[in-house]
Amino acid sequence: MLIKSAKYLLSSPSFDKCPPPVKPEYAFIGRSNVGKSSLINMLCNNDKLAKTSASPGKTQMINHFVINDSWYMVDLPGYGFAKVSQSSRRRWEQMIENYLRKRENLTMLFVLVDSRHSPQKIDLEFLENIKKWGVPCSIIFTKTDKENQRTVSKNVNDFKTAMQQTWQFIPQFFTSSAVKKNGRDKILSFIGEMNGETGK
Ligand code: GTP
Ligand code: MG
Repeated sequence: MLIKSAKYLLSSPSFDKCPPPVKPEYAFIGRSNVGKSSLINMLCNNDKLAKTSASPGKTQMINHFVINDSWYMVDLPGYGFAKVSQSSRRRWEQMIENYLRKRENLTMLFVLVDSRHSPQKIDLEFLENIKKWGVPCSIIFTKTDKENQRTVSKNVNDFKTAMQQTWQFIPQFFTSSAVKKNGRDKILSFIGEMNGETGK
């Protein structure tokens, strides 16, 4: 699938402030600093689209981008950042749970996982909620340029094995590097298929 245009639309503090659910929507979530905003920029070929930062906790709102005037990409704030208060953690949970359970045009949630680490409890627990809420999801292992291929493969396989304990059907897995621009074609064709543009 070809990205002809990618435009920032809106940052919403809550589910009910999001733009009308009139286009298919693809959202990106995962731990703080896992590379959600960087991945969106890499997919859109525009480093200035979503704001990124070397320190965790950069993205705070529900950020909508319009792609090809026909579908939305959504950059979400991350979870698991140690330096946040109980109250802001609860606010995040409420905002995300509301958004994920109620957003009727949410076609696919991409859950990003750092490919450098063995399976982390926080990601597996987050995915348990996703399963419970019935949100369609896929997993993208990020930052593959930072580790050797063997370790990445082992971490991906171990994650799959961990999920097999509780998941009947394992979601689609992707690997990516925002630095090397790896994974772009596969992720975009996957989205293209869901948008009904098979073969493009
Ligand atoms: P929050 O918005 O804080 O939750 O973070 P995020 O998940 O949006 O992460 P972001 O895209 O801001 O990236 C965090 C840091 O990781 C930045 O310093 C990025 O440059 C770096 N980064 C992201 N993706 C990659 C990647 O694929 N490879 C490498 N080497 N660095 C990456
Ligand atoms: Mg971000």
